[in-house]
Amino acid sequence: MKKNTTPQFCDINAKNCCSTSKTNDGIDLKSHWDNVYDNAKVNQLGWYEESPDPSLQLIQACALHKNAALLNVGAGATTLVDKLNELGYQNIIANDISPIALEKLKLRLGVEKEKVNWVVDDLTRPSELHTIGKVDLWHDRAVLHFFNEKENQDTYFDLLKKLVKPEGFVILATFNLKGAATCSGLPVHRYDKKMLTEKLGNSFELVEAFDYTYSMPSGDKREYVYTLFKRK
Ligand SMILES: C[S@@+](CC[C@H](N)C(=O)[O-])C[C@H]1O[C@@H](n2cnc3c(N)ncnc32)[C@H](O)[C@@H]1O
Repeated sequence: MKKNTTPQFCDINAKNCCSTSKTNDGIDLKSHWDNVYDNAKVNQLGWYEESPDPSLQLIQACALHKNAALLNVGAGATTLVDKLNELGYQNIIANDISPIALEKLKLRLGVEKEKVNWVVDDLTRPSELHTIGKVDLWHDRAVLHFFNEKENQDTYFDLLKKLVKPEGFVILATFNLKGAATCSGLPVHRYDKKMLTEKLGNSFELVEAFDYTYSMPSGDKREYVYTLFKRK
């Protein structure tokens, strides 16, 4: 994929413009996430990780080439992008619905931001992600669980299945069945490894799964399930 060729900001005239994606309660999701990132320091966000260890552990288990295409969906301002860059991965793609989130990540990366491909797009109404080509890894931490409607979940998994190469990997980390019912003021849909396996279907094999208790900057705990799948 060519670097930095995708729009940094949503074109309001574009088909499926992300600014129109709303919850059942009428919350505009792009505005919601832009406000969240605009009004808080990244390291005070309820999902901030100083070091994204469970993700890194699973990514290392994939034993991918350094030029493999690694798509981090709903990346926000995650430190995972910094770490993957430090580890020498050369084809990192960071997606989010919120351009403000990605701008914060770019600011932290400084000149290293040039090494990352940036895609502002809505996973539930994708207009740019279709065009990025196939990927070796789809990584999602704390994004899928925000999609409560079946239609949005179906769009998400259709996109995933379109983009992940045969023998490619998928990491899904969501709140587990013991997890909180909301995050960032929004209701969430919780999963276990069986539910995620069913969503992916027969062409994906579960390689590893574990529950993980995340400590928020406030000290509160959040229960996650981490899963690693390989496409057959
Ligand atoms: C709880 S945060 C997690 C951020 C990051 N994955 C991490 O672990 O730090 C959820 C992220 O998903 C993004 N997001 C929410 N809905 C989205 C959508 N429909 N398409 C793309 N990104 C979305 C938000 O902007 C936010 O950055």
